[in-house]
Amino acid sequence: MSKQTYVITDAQLQQQLSNCDKISAYWHAQNITPTAYVETYGCQQNEADSEKLRGYLAMSGYRIVQEAEGADVVVMNTCAIREHAEQRVFGNLGALTHTKRRHSRQKIFLCGCMAGETRVSDRIKKSYPYVDGVFSTHHLWQFPEILWKVLSNQKRQFYIEDEAGSIAEGIPQLRDSTLKAWVSIMYGCNNFCTYCIVPYVRGRERSRRKDDILAECRDVIAGGAKDITLLGQNVNSYGKDLEEGVDFADLLAEIAQLPGEFLIRFMTSHPRDASEKLFETMAKYPKIAKQLHLPFQSGSSRVLKAMNRHYDRETYLKKVNYAKALMPDLVLTSDVIVGFPGETEEEFEETISLIQQVHYDSLFTFIFSPRAGTPAATMDDPTPREEKSRRFDRLCAVQNEISVGIHEGYVGKCLRCLVDGRDRDLLTARTEGGRLVRFAGCDDLIGTYQDITITGATTWSLTGELKETND
Ligand code: SAH
Ligand code: SF4
Ligand code: F3S
Repeated sequence: MSKQTYVITDAQLQQQLSNCDKISAYWHAQNITPTAYVETYGCQQNEADSEKLRGYLAMSGYRIVQEAEGADVVVMNTCAIREHAEQRVFGNLGALTHTKRRHSRQKIFLCGCMAGETRVSDRIKKSYPYVDGVFSTHHLWQFPEILWKVLSNQKRQFYIEDEAGSIAEGIPQLRDSTLKAWVSIMYGCNNFCTYCIVPYVRGRERSRRKDDILAECRDVIAGGAKDITLLGQNVNSYGKDLEEGVDFADLLAEIAQLPGEFLIRFMTSHPRDASEKLFETMAKYPKIAKQLHLPFQSGSSRVLKAMNRHYDRETYLKKVNYAKALMPDLVLTSDVIVGFPGETEEEFEETISLIQQVHYDSLFTFIFSPRAGTPAATMDDPTPREEKSRRFDRLCAVQNEISVGIHEGYVGKCLRCLVDGRDRDLLTARTEGGRLVRFAGCDDLIGTYQDITITGATTWSLTGELKETND
């Protein structure tokens, strides 16, 4: 393990688990089964963190419930990526004053990426006195200690000291699904894209040991997982901080060789570090889904430089073309930012031409949102908001047409899909590339792979029928 990465020791973790026991005994003595609600904002990394928060809560005797009203603990696991995300959290936090008034025993916590911003924790300290605890992502492993302190001495707790970040193995997890599993392979980010807050709130890149990741994968597969998503802000730099001599492609290959019926996906891949070896490994192993989320952010090399992305339009296109040549059925998705400071109309058109050239299955589109503390927040930004909205709408219209076209191309094909649930009178399933398919069938198909013939398509999803000869 790297010299810089601080690994939480077994003894430190045991101490947290003994806090869980104390909390459990505290409620038991009062003959109460307490309840807890965890609300998650933001990306899959936060979803994975919430499974740990629920794991700790369950171990402390809490029953997990689906709403804040009447819950003894409410945890808001927040996202700081855009201003809108933060506004939503403050709005919902405001509403909790009323639920707390109706249930005075309620303890309210705010954690996640927003909790890593001093601006936010200061505001909570001053203006939200009913929030009992704030802890940044670096302190998530100490949640039982924080909760116990709040319960036992009734004082507000702030665990917000900035750190490079650590790795904690062995935190209990209460997973949302047995069929699909998130597995974090690394934490933090070193890239400092000029618009992005993540490196400031999640600390430096640090990789989990390969054996710990493999053990977790074996565990979830044994528990019935058929779809595993490996998580990291930039999975392609996995292993750089380890002394094990293993890179992301090596890790993928090892997981792909584990026994069992499952598919592996991953996010997110940074184009700078996406290697030919990675694409070759994806192509080689049937258990690696032929799906790639490769955010390009902008089609203009000048803007990419200003974003500090370390690749240009040409290198990006070269990589995508290589991946497509190796995997003709590859499902490609991406993130794109419209209206980065100084983006000209011509540069925006380069983004349009890039998406027309690549033909993504779908895109996650964002209007640039200045984040205090990042370099882009102080860059000259003369483009008016209305103009950015116009560009955004045009981008979405172009992409929607492409998505419909690609989806229509599926009609008549028979695809192996994992049936994952029900949406009103239809079952839902996912293709290997992650596309949503709705079809008629009975609930006992949930959790199985089925061959489905695609009969219809919209911008966002497909409809289909079970193949008749299915066995
Ligand atoms: N680590 C991932 C991205 C995580 S954030 C990567 O590098 O690909 C998810 C997406 O949010 C980014 O890809 C970007 O498109 C968008 N985003 C990040 N900061 C933003 C900001 N300040 N304004 C608008 N969009 C932003
Ligand atoms: Fe943010 Fe860039 Fe890191 Fe992604 S790679 S999390 S966009 S700084
Ligand atoms: Fe948001 Fe933090 Fe994820 S800022 S997008 S929850 S890493």
